Amino acid sequence: MLPKIDPTTTRSWEKLLLLSQESKSTISELFLQDSERLSKFTRDLESIHFDFSKNNVSEEVLNALNELAIECKLPDAIEAMFKGDKINETENRSVLHTELRSADTNSKHSDIITAELRKIEVFSKKIIEGDWKGYTGKKITDVVNVGIGGSDLGPKMITNTLQPYWKSVTPHFVSNVDAQQLVEELEGLNPETTLFIIASKTFTTQETMTNAMSAREWFLKNGGALKNVSNHFVAVSTNEEAVLDFGINSENMFMFWDWVGGRYSLWSAIGLIIACTVGYSRFEELLRGAERMDDHFRTSSISDNIPAMSALIGIWYNNFLNYDSYAILPYDHRLRFLPSYLQQADMESNGKSTDRNGQPVSYATGPVIWGEPGTNGQHAFYQLIHQGTRIIPCDFIASAKPGHDYADHHNKLLANFLAQPEALMKGRTLKEVEQELKDKTKEEAEALAPFKVFEGNRPSTSILMDELTPFNLGMLTAFYEHRIFVQGVIWNIFSFDQWGVELGKQLAKPILSEIQNNLSGDHDQSTHNLLNKIQGIRR
Ligand code: F6P
Repeated sequence: MLPKIDPTTTRSWEKLLLLSQESKSTISELFLQDSERLSKFTRDLESIHFDFSKNNVSEEVLNALNELAIECKLPDAIEAMFKGDKINETENRSVLHTELRSADTNSKHSDIITAELRKIEVFSKKIIEGDWKGYTGKKITDVVNVGIGGSDLGPKMITNTLQPYWKSVTPHFVSNVDAQQLVEELEGLNPETTLFIIASKTFTTQETMTNAMSAREWFLKNGGALKNVSNHFVAVSTNEEAVLDFGINSENMFMFWDWVGGRYSLWSAIGLIIACTVGYSRFEELLRGAERMDDHFRTSSISDNIPAMSALIGIWYNNFLNYDSYAILPYDHRLRFLPSYLQQADMESNGKSTDRNGQPVSYATGPVIWGEPGTNGQHAFYQLIHQGTRIIPCDFIASAKPGHDYADHHNKLLANFLAQPEALMKGRTLKEVEQELKDKTKEEAEALAPFKVFEGNRPSTSILMDELTPFNLGMLTAFYEHRIFVQGVIWNIFSFDQWGVELGKQLAKPILSEIQNNLSGDHDQSTHNLLNKIQGIRR
């Protein structure tokens, strides 16, 4: 079980509150005050370098944060998760996505995990090598993953990030119940050479089931026959009964288990599309990378623990400096889906306001996660990050070597990856601006100067890889998973349930029937009016 400690009752919380009220040195001043700041605030694991030094955190604050983690019994919580305690208490489940990527053959579920991995290996090899034939004997050229949330965002992020490793099939992702996405993805696909993976932990999710039925209809309308469905539809789920009911036989079903949370499931058979696209050995490298981060997370002391360090700095911002959002800025087009993947991973995990004792929390929990790849974001929202009234901690992520041959592009990308955090930290003083405007008249310079001042002192973390390999991507993804876990432990909330998504789903059911049958039920005035308008327009 997880400890149930209200963090605000700890001594370190008190201390952090006091520290937050004191006048603080700027980040640049912190560098001047401590010649060893860089080494104290950077960590390396394999070939990923984590630089936390440009954060608005003094050594004293960091020590108090580490104390907070100890007082909240973070080491016990980490052990409880890895051991398989039922730390997802409201669903009475263990949380063992880490076991999916463990090479330890003595682990609790090693047998079933290995069996499923072998099945993925064999299947993905057949797809890539063309031994799995479509109904007219042709090789599969396109694989469409039909899933949503954790059954979409994780596999989509990983598959797209590993684009340089793609082999012989093109991956597609359909998630939204808005059929526009299905229509666009199916455009130009040939049913003879298309394979659908219906991915759903529960196999009851409205969006996925609706898309799955329409994909089947498309297949049958465009030349496929019922007897051919088994060559073109496979399922990934924990719910065998529902898969069989849908008409997919158990040979075409890949299993995972209730101790794997949906948003932590890309390491399971939910990653089937990853293996089919980049090959099983790359999928395994991804698992090994995550396992490396798991080992580090489980065995390092709090002060050396990279996910914990990142999470605790986030706690300082969220709870003591009131910075309520967190930007993920990958300087790598391949990582363009990382922000949306992390939105679910983080916000569905830690967007909670009831603590582990069932009481309302009295402090802020999960921040708003958002982001875009650099350099696109620079020409969109960075203005606000540099000069807006809110302070937004950012993660800048890049790899030294690109996945392409355009060296000049990569040099420019990296120049921006380095320049932005430096600009955020240093800013530009009035004096510097005046110097820059020295060619203007005095009046012109005075009028313009205030707009060109950057106050600076804006925090960021830089994460630098040598290159974006499957192994490094596994490490990076597991780093963020554990960061989320640590914050949930400190906030005394349950990070592995998601009751907050239920109400909207429930309300949609009767409304759907009202839309279908042109009826109007009992709603608030606004909903009632909107429903009437829709019905009026569509009549
Ligand atoms: O959004 C709620 C949720 O339950 C997520 O947690 C999950 O990843 C997603 O729906 C999809 O669920 P399933 O894999 O069961 O279709």
